Amino acid sequence: MDFLHELRRSFPELFDHLEEILRHFPFVEKWFLQGPLRPLLEEESKNLLSHLKEKLKPYQNTLPVFASLPPKGLAREEIWKLLSQMQQTEMGWQKGLASGAVYHGSPEHIALLNEAYSLFSQVNPLHFDLWPSASKMESEIISMAAHLFTENLSPEEKEEICGSITSGGTESIILAMKAYRDQAREERGIKQGEIIIPQTAHVAFEKAAHYLGLVVRKVGVDDNYRARVDEVKKAIQHSTICLVGSAPAFPHGSIDPIEELSELAFRHGIGFHTDACLGGFILPFAKKLGYEIPAFDFSLRGVTSLSADTHKYGYAAKGTSIILYRTKKLRQYQYFTATDWPGGLYFSPTMAGSRPGGLLAACYAAMLSLGYEGYLANTQKILHTAQKIRDGIAQIPHLKLIGNPLFIITFTSNSPHLDIYQVLDNMSQRGYSLNGLQRPRAIHLAVTLRHCEADFVERFLHDLTEAVRQCYGKPASEGTLAPVYGLAESLPIRGAIHQLLKTLLDAYYST
Ligand SMILES: Cc1ncc(COP(=O)(O)O)c(C=O)c1O
Repeated sequence: MDFLHELRRSFPELFDHLEEILRHFPFVEKWFLQGPLRPLLEEESKNLLSHLKEKLKPYQNTLPVFASLPPKGLAREEIWKLLSQMQQTEMGWQKGLASGAVYHGSPEHIALLNEAYSLFSQVNPLHFDLWPSASKMESEIISMAAHLFTENLSPEEKEEICGSITSGGTESIILAMKAYRDQAREERGIKQGEIIIPQTAHVAFEKAAHYLGLVVRKVGVDDNYRARVDEVKKAIQHSTICLVGSAPAFPHGSIDPIEELSELAFRHGIGFHTDACLGGFILPFAKKLGYEIPAFDFSLRGVTSLSADTHKYGYAAKGTSIILYRTKKLRQYQYFTATDWPGGLYFSPTMAGSRPGGLLAACYAAMLSLGYEGYLANTQKILHTAQKIRDGIAQIPHLKLIGNPLFIITFTSNSPHLDIYQVLDNMSQRGYSLNGLQRPRAIHLAVTLRHCEADFVERFLHDLTEAVRQCYGKPASEGTLAPVYGLAESLPIRGAIHQLLKTLLDAYYST
């Protein structure tokens, strides 16, 4: 975007603060977007989409497109052929090419989940009179999970711990924030609640605030990417409804100082949410294995809710997560009930109305088949593998590891001649799907059981070393996606990036 380069050259100081300025004067940003930036943005969208076209729509020329119903139903073999063709093309995750994404993925485990799902594919927990199995499975899954986070509690305290199964980490977080919002409204008369989150907290908290009409206050992190307790302390106000900490946070795998933060919340009489979506089914087992894990769960008196995703390291099928609360009273603020609807009395615990009983069954089967020992053994494998990968990356010239996390490996470039986004691009061309981070620029790999298969570590380290060698000295503007990542990270007019992302979503939905 030449116009922006010109602006940066002419007014370097103004440019450095442009993002901050625009945050306070949204009409100036609007003027930029509708005026001088408009044609450039349109051009940039076109470029981005043409770069991404192959990734987004690879079947355009190889498979039939059904933009409307086929006049006659297709034969089963035809449907099967179509689905299999796509499924077979998308098996890179099996070889460990993806960061996170598939956390178990052995054929036997997948078969178990699929069989459990198929038995219960028609079940809807909304009709619990028809399918009391849903209540049995859901309550037991919640109880099994709760046991992992309530070790030192008295029997009375344990009895109070409760929760719900949701569709994923984001829904768990949204529901917890709703519970705090409604609690603060009812018990403290707070009309517009505020939540305080570390910069590294998952973006689901911002999504929750967006949906629920809450204000988000972000606080900084220290050199190890852990929330700054002093900043949180300063940010607390009368309208603060809860504080948040991650165990660990998605970007760098850092665990926030949850003991101090939750104690702060306790002393202010406000909620504290531990986001253990990523670590909930790893950290308790890592602790058992002797790793030094700081306290993050209900053993801390200030922790009032905790999210843990069964569809990540809980090894269930995609579409389940658990939200836990310290008290049944708090969980009631999550519920929705309606008494006047002509459709009858209505009561629903989570965001969805109808819910997939098949996913409950798959989650139940995953937990029962693994048992405590299975989770323990898997955690050990993952942590061993992560250590080997970390040690290997430390040996690759021009790369620098960030932080010292257990199973999320984040690294960046420590050379002005190596753009880490070029490396990300190069790894993508080799079939990998790693996560690109921004501010600072980095790459991360969430280690799963897929990476514990024979020879993955050697293959990955070899490919990464080659990628670094090929990218060293290459200008940041070269490559397919690296310039786009670079632009997205550095462009101060964030409205332009929002617009690009929305265009991308539109493209996703085009047939
Ligand atoms: C720490 C953390 N919290 C929340 C989420 C959101 O989970 P989901 O994508 O299942 O909605 C994630 C996802 O990676 C996460 O890592």
